[in-house]
Amino acid sequence: MVSKASIVIYREIVVLAPVLTAALLLWLFSLEGTLGLYRWTPDYPRIFWSIGCLGIAGPVFAVIGGVLGARVPIASRIAFVASVFLSSAGIILAIGLFLYIFPGAARISPSTPPVLLIANKTGSGGVSDLALVFRTAAPTKNVVAYGPEFPSTRVGEGNLSRDHAIPLKNLSPGTRYRWTLNDGPEHSFLTPGISASGTPGEKGLAPLSGGFRFAVGSDPHFGAAESSIDHTASILRWVSDPARGFNAFFLLGDSVDRGMVDSQWQSLLGALSPASWSVPVRPIPGNHDTIIDGMVHYLAYLYPKVMETRGSRLWYRIDAGNVHVLTLEMLWGTEDFSAAQRSWLESELSSIPPGDWKLVMMHCMAYSSGYSDGGVPWFDHRDMIRELSPILEKYGVDAAFSGHDHDMELLRKNGVTYIVIGTLGGIPDPVRTYSSPASVWYLDGVHGFLDVGVIGGRMDLTFRDHAGTALESFSIDKNQ
Ligand SMILES: [Fe+2]
Repeated sequence: MVSKASIVIYREIVVLAPVLTAALLLWLFSLEGTLGLYRWTPDYPRIFWSIGCLGIAGPVFAVIGGVLGARVPIASRIAFVASVFLSSAGIILAIGLFLYIFPGAARISPSTPPVLLIANKTGSGGVSDLALVFRTAAPTKNVVAYGPEFPSTRVGEGNLSRDHAIPLKNLSPGTRYRWTLNDGPEHSFLTPGISASGTPGEKGLAPLSGGFRFAVGSDPHFGAAESSIDHTASILRWVSDPARGFNAFFLLGDSVDRGMVDSQWQSLLGALSPASWSVPVRPIPGNHDTIIDGMVHYLAYLYPKVMETRGSRLWYRIDAGNVHVLTLEMLWGTEDFSAAQRSWLESELSSIPPGDWKLVMMHCMAYSSGYSDGGVPWFDHRDMIRELSPILEKYGVDAAFSGHDHDMELLRKNGVTYIVIGTLGGIPDPVRTYSSPASVWYLDGVHGFLDVGVIGGRMDLTFRDHAGTALESFSIDKNQ
């Protein structure tokens, strides 16, 4: 004879399993990037479906047991035992996964090294503001001093805090600024030149002067065993050498391999910090950065709440004279291309004066050559081409930069130049099995970055390897 207490416990177990499973899945899918993870990887759908099936298996067997009832008592009893076993397993799995994922995903390191970040507000000189961003284990007040001749403008924090974003505003274009933190060692950075004339860089040789010179790289995948962090370090060293005169470094995502693992973010910040002191950086999020609540880490370290912002901290405009960079949140594709982001993009593009440079930067690529991974195409991204490319074409975007594919490529389609540069250190993709009809130049199996120089109406694009050697160059002339 089964006691009443046992029946109550049994019912609770059978009900609790699907409730906890549903709560876990709802939480996971509420996180940015999870829908893309589900749609664009072969393994994760199986994992999510297995969790879901286990969650409802107990109640299903309970119903079967009830239907069989007294007619087939042995089968009914087996079904009830199975429902208890499966429900218990579902509860343990849901709680275990939550306890495994959440504490790590929510952990933000109490102290981080200072990183000089590009902000999304534009100063009176026509170039974007910067901010020195870091965290301290204990509340502190800090002072950044900066100036063209010597560090003369002093910006001090008013309150004791652990979260710091000290702004460097209203910078003059084409000026080398010297700066210190708390009167420590002096560093310097060069703001973008915005003149219409200057010295263009020769292919792989002389640095450009008078214009805006920036580096673009993506997909270093800090934390992955297969990543070549020595190649990433070599690129950061090359770009951050003050003699080369770079004004900015754009890092287009997959900075870390698994966004939920805080130690990977610490490795990234450790490498990025000293490089940024002479060439300010702007990392944007990629699909790997956001895996299971990774966005919490990205925002805490690379666009914290205390950093001044104009609108969103995930999509925004960066200005350097007549060059306007619009960064987008495109992780796996267009899953996060919300109506708000789309209307913001269109209104920004329509507000940029004709003749100025319109550049778009995002993690996921639109047009690209590539390969298939378990039936998933890593080339000519159908959603990006359907939803984003028409906007780029309509508003005359000059170039769209992305990573996601771990190779180098330049493509042209309907007046827009597309660049894929996911070669900052992550394991190279297999050689392409699909060639995009839009492809102009493609290279696989090499780590490197893109060196971009803009003077007036001319933009030079040079693909370089990890040692800085020029591999191929292209130019865009707006006056032709
Ligand atoms: Fe990647």
